[in-house]
Amino acid sequence: MLALLCISLIAQDVSAQTFSEGEWKVIRSLSPASLQADTTNEYEQNKDSALLGQHLFFDKRISSNGEVACSTCHIPDLYFTDGLSVSTGIKPLERNTPTVLNAAHQRWFFWDGRADTLWGQPIQTIEHPSEMNMTRSDALDIIRKDEVLHSQWNNVFGAMESQQVDENAAKLSKAIAAYITQLSAADAPFDAFVAGDMDALSESAKRGLQFFITDGGCLRCHFGPWFTDGSFHSVGIPPLHGGPLKDSGRYGAIDLVTNAEFSAGSQFSNDAESMRATITKHIAKRKDDWGAFRTPSLRNVARTAPYMHAGQHQTLDDVIEHYSTLENFVSADHHRETILTPLNMTAQQKLDLKAFLESLTAPLPDEKLLKDPRQARPEHAQ
Ligand code: HEC
Ligand code: HEC
Repeated sequence: MLALLCISLIAQDVSAQTFSEGEWKVIRSLSPASLQADTTNEYEQNKDSALLGQHLFFDKRISSNGEVACSTCHIPDLYFTDGLSVSTGIKPLERNTPTVLNAAHQRWFFWDGRADTLWGQPIQTIEHPSEMNMTRSDALDIIRKDEVLHSQWNNVFGAMESQQVDENAAKLSKAIAAYITQLSAADAPFDAFVAGDMDALSESAKRGLQFFITDGGCLRCHFGPWFTDGSFHSVGIPPLHGGPLKDSGRYGAIDLVTNAEFSAGSQFSNDAESMRATITKHIAKRKDDWGAFRTPSLRNVARTAPYMHAGQHQTLDDVIEHYSTLENFVSADHHRETILTPLNMTAQQKLDLKAFLESLTAPLPDEKLLKDPRQARPEHAQ
């Protein structure tokens, strides 16, 4: 009995995944994840502003048919996604709904990065004909006429000057961004492992981690505590319904971001001299950007299926299969150099890589951030 125990202990020891000093150095660069404040939004860290933003996030009245709220597509229980390949607002959309959890850490927003700040995003969505299709002045009217929202607005921004429509639209956007900034989910088993809990990852996940940082080459694009380089690439994903590539991705977004009304360098920014603003001013349009999309963060990725910019892959297995075979790889430019080569993974390597990606799932944020604050109040309870 004792002998058996000894043998099994030795066997475990031998099979246990070990990392070299160099690998540990890389692993430590992937955790912990923390947010950097966005100086272009002076209301970002303001709790009252975030509460107003939370009210607005769940409010269906801010859509032309009164049926679409931000939370219609960014569903809290689904890690703020909608589980669909592409979603439908007022009309069908052409891109997959990314999570807004941890969104505040990003360098660029949307799959193509057509917003350079988080607060530059909500107003675009509200006014988008396929998403919420609401004019900014109609959206502001909803706030003005609602007792609760109006008093919260006054609290954060002071009296609403009705002539300053654009200024107010920027404030509305900044309040929603303040709410989204609170939606952090970045404390996963992987982080416990890096912090010293060697049992936080299974042996399979540890092998997957090693593959990820070495032979898998994933780290070339998915690096740092948010597992993204904040840049744009093509990994050869064909369109959702086949046919030729149509979505120009980053290429088409560059004119949009440099001319955006609500941007880091605009008159509505609270830090128009920031690095963000300077970089936007100087982006060049390159041919290689055609069909490139932002490298997504991999935190909580096991909970945010389907995957890729148009939800072309239903499961993590499908994504891993893609990187393993590159079978249906499409490229806008056949001469383009690609850093991807088929990984020809074994069945075990695929399971291990998946186990590692699953170890990046953190718990959802505090429950009070996950629902319409109105529903928590007794006078609205049914
Ligand atoms: C009809 C579904 C739908 C609605 C409603 C919706 N979104 Fe989205 N959201 C999306 C899709 C799809 C994208 C990606 C679009 C793209 O990349 O072109 C997105 C992207 C985003 C992003 C960028 C995330 C990232 O990682 O870059 C944020 C932030 C966001 N939405 C917040 C909001 C807010 C705030 C509202 C309400 C004002 C809202 N969304 C309403 C579907 C929706
Ligand atoms: C050349 C840069 C690059 C490399 C290398 C790379 N990725 Fe990606 N990854 C991306 C980009 C860009 C996307 C989004 C592509 C799109 O939507 O068209 C993506 C998407 C993903 C997704 C889907 C995430 C989501 O939310 O939809 C997963 C999972 C993923 N990659 C994992 C990996 C793994 C694992 C490896 C290593 C085997 C890897 N990636 C290597 C750039 C890269």
